[in-house]
Amino acid sequence: MLCATFIYLKYFIQQASVKKKINIIFSCQSCGYQTSKWLGKCPDCGKWDTLIEETRSYQSINSENKGLPNLFTQRAQPVPIDSIDIEDQHRLSTGLAEFDRVLGGGLVSGSLVLIGGDPGIGKSTLMLQALHGIAKNGRKVLYVSGEESIIQIRIRSKRLSSLSSNLLVVSEIDIGIILAMLDSVKPDVLVIDSIQTMFNPDITSAPGSVSQVRESTMQIMLTAKKTDVPVFLIGHVTKDGAIAGPRLLEHMVDTVLYFEGDRNHVFRILRAVKNRFGSTNEIGVFEMNDNGLVEVLNPSSVFLAECPEKTPGSIVTASMEGSRPILVEIQALAGNTSFGTPRRTILGIDQNRVALLLAVIEKKLNMHMMGQDIFMNVAGGVKIDEPAIDLGIVSAVISSFLDRPILERTVVIGEVGLTGEVRAISNIDIRISEAEKMGFSRCLVPQSNLKRIAVNKGMELIGIKTISDAAEVLF
Ligand code: TYD
Ligand code: MG
Repeated sequence: MLCATFIYLKYFIQQASVKKKINIIFSCQSCGYQTSKWLGKCPDCGKWDTLIEETRSYQSINSENKGLPNLFTQRAQPVPIDSIDIEDQHRLSTGLAEFDRVLGGGLVSGSLVLIGGDPGIGKSTLMLQALHGIAKNGRKVLYVSGEESIIQIRIRSKRLSSLSSNLLVVSEIDIGIILAMLDSVKPDVLVIDSIQTMFNPDITSAPGSVSQVRESTMQIMLTAKKTDVPVFLIGHVTKDGAIAGPRLLEHMVDTVLYFEGDRNHVFRILRAVKNRFGSTNEIGVFEMNDNGLVEVLNPSSVFLAECPEKTPGSIVTASMEGSRPILVEIQALAGNTSFGTPRRTILGIDQNRVALLLAVIEKKLNMHMMGQDIFMNVAGGVKIDEPAIDLGIVSAVISSFLDRPILERTVVIGEVGLTGEVRAISNIDIRISEAEKMGFSRCLVPQSNLKRIAVNKGMELIGIKTISDAAEVLF
């Protein structure tokens, strides 16, 4: 009996010591939720079969903790905010004015910038061009690719005419080796393409899993803050969430930029969604051609390039993108529905906003929208999300419904309320100037804005109170 108890006790102690060394966790590959037990359904995001087992050795947890004290557990003392010296905090230019503007005026040292986007949208191309711009000014930059061989990068660089001896390239996925390289090479800027290919051997799961992506980013972040080297991380966004997407990392980085666009269109938009060093919602517009990305300095002219005149259902409105007004063409197509429930296919604008405006048109203008299939699109593959385009949406729908083109050279701006009233909007002056610059001669604006508009000589301004007023003067 005593012997049995002894054996059991020995076994128990053994098990306890094994548990101490190996830490098994189950991580959801969709949202990053972690638990010590396997579950069929993630309690956090509700997805099925997304939890996978990941083992972290005791050593890895320990070595990870070793890195932390240097940065975060130093004995810091509070200091008056005006005594902190920021004189030497200059911003590094990437040579691409559009990119610099989205970053808030250039790259801040020690910052971690995440560039997300669909695979194949042009992230690697953008990074190579930006690095070339930095290298041209005599800075040493390091491009780490986990996806392409150095020969492939060389071929691409040649096409982009971005060859420079200051641009160092390496094909590597082991995060430990990369960080050691950072120490020996001492570049001014580091690019990791992509974070999903980075691998930490201490973690058993495959590259691209939640744990790998999170750990790698954590290590890079600590190094960036310690050494003051700005780092660009490239992250692919996947629709099905099977691979850890950059969304998981948004809170760990300083700046999140999304590179978006329709692969069938040549335009690409770089959008800031989080920026600790500048304004968000700033956009940069690029055009992808045979020799890489070209900056589009006047986006309105591009988006209006094929805008048809005197065509029902087409209207131009001015939307603010960050600090910049952009003229876009909104298109609507209304046709009799053959089903009980009418179809609503909306691209580039918020679907709910359109549904709301259709209800207002139905009620206030007595137009039978429930009998119409409505298709809407913003030309050029742009996405806009701003209340000032409401009147544009309403006008496009009315124009298509009545099959009457709106007046030539007319821009329509205003927010529409549920009672059909047209409400004041912000930045009216710069929107009107942009429209004037693009050769428009008439502008429908909210009546309440009219009084405060500085005089514009070349533009006829028409104040609108309700959507019925708009319907009267549009045609
Ligand atoms: P890439 O930068 O490899 O995309 P990502 O890194 O986001 O996956 O871009 C690939 C696409 O860009 C590819 O479909 C071809 C196109 N492209 C051009 O049109 N011109 C060019 O000069 C380059 C380099 C790429
Ligand atoms: Mg790439």
